[in-house]
Parts: sequence; C-alpha cells; structure tokens
Amino acid sequence: MPARADGVPTRNPDTAILFLMVGLPGSGKTTRAKELAVTHQALRLTPDHWMVALFGDSMADGKRFVLEGRLISVALQALRMGNSVVLDFGLWGRDERSALRWLAQANGATCRVVYLPVDKDVQLARIARRQETEPHQTFPMSEADVDQWRTQFHVPDAGELDGGEIPRPPAGWPGWAEWAAGHWPSCTEN
Ligand SMILES: Nc1ncnc2c1ncn2[C@@H]1O[C@H](COP(=O)(O)OP(=O)(O)OP(=O)(O)O)[C@@H](O)[C@H]1O
Ligand SMILES: [Mg+2]
Repeated sequence: MPARADGVPTRNPDTAILFLMVGLPGSGKTTRAKELAVTHQALRLTPDHWMVALFGDSMADGKRFVLEGRLISVALQALRMGNSVVLDFGLWGRDERSALRWLAQANGATCRVVYLPVDKDVQLARIARRQETEPHQTFPMSEADVDQWRTQFHVPDAGELDGGEIPRPPAGWPGWAEWAAGHWPSCTEN
C-alpha cells in the first residue's frame, strides 16, 4: 500500500472495485461475497444479516430499502477512500444494477456484476439446508415464494456482465443519482 509524505498509508481510489452480488435467495451470493471480501480486502455489506438482527424480518414495512440506502452511502464513502466493497444485496432489478454501476463510476471506482444463476431444485435444497444449519442468518422461505421470486428476477444481460454501456434511467428521471434516491430512501451523498 502506498504512503503519504506524513507516513499515513493510503489506497489508490482508481483500484477500488464495487462488486454487485446478483442472484436469487439461496444462489450462493453471501458465500461468494465472503470469498471476494477476503481476496480483495473488501468491505462486505449483507443487509439480510442487519435485517435479521434489527427487525427479525426481511422487509419490515419497507425498512429494508432505507437500510440499503444507508449501506450504499457507506459503500460510496469506502470507494472514495480507495477501498473495495461487496454489496451483497441480490439486486433482482436491472435498474438497481444500472444505478449502482453509475454511482460506482461517479465515485471513481470500477464495478463488477457477479451473477450466480441457480436451478430451482438446487435452490430449494440449499434453502432447506441453510434453514436447518444457520436459522439465525436467514428467513423462512416456501416453494411458492421461490416460484414467485423466479418470475420477478431480471437476469443480467451480457452488457451488464461485461461492464458495457450503462443504460439511461427510466423515463421521468433526470439521472441515476435521483433514481437511486427515490428507490432507496436515505441513499444520499452523506
Ligand atoms: N457453490 C455452492 N455449492 C454448494 N452449496 C452452496 C454453494 N454456495 C452456497 N451454498 C450453500 O447454499 C446455502 C445458501 O447460500 P448463501 O447463503 O450464500 O446464498 P444467498 O444467495 O446469499 O441467499 P440469500 O439471498 O437468501 O441470502 C448456504 O447453506 C451455503 O452454504
Ligand atoms: Mg445471502
């Protein structure tokens, strides 16, 4: 790590990476996120663990989006200091991913979309096993939940996976920063 003239170690902001973990419940995001955090000395932010600890519920009347907004703000601070970050959010929507890719770029970092596809049978087996072995880090999930979630998930396209051009925000939004502040209340610069 380089050092300033006064001897304080610094990181190079140009090398900071924002990893976006993308996949359905049970696809293996948190498992891979922990590996990436070690390999890249990155800060890992896993909202499920916060939601379990704070509310015992994954959504808690919309508080999840408030929490995610705060965690994004923390992530952007870390990126600006040159630290890599793993956002272990799931990010089912293409717009969420586009907004975060834009925010990474705007804060001087590279962004990598890490997609973990999973077949339904494997997903159900992993969820059941995790519920047995790690109930304090997850929530009950039924097969009907899984079926519904699989229809809602937007599979990342080649452009997202290859770091291609970031699409424009949906009609009516001036930019991705404004879209992000609308989607994640409390996602501010501070
Ligand atoms: N590649 C893998 N092979 C086999 N088992 C795995 C693999 N990755 C994860 N698992 C197991 O599957 C279960 C689910 O993994 P994990 O918690 O990482 O998924 P997740 O995508 O973070 O799920 P959620 O969105 O619900 O948080 C865990 O018990 C984990 O040990
Ligand atoms: Mg997880």
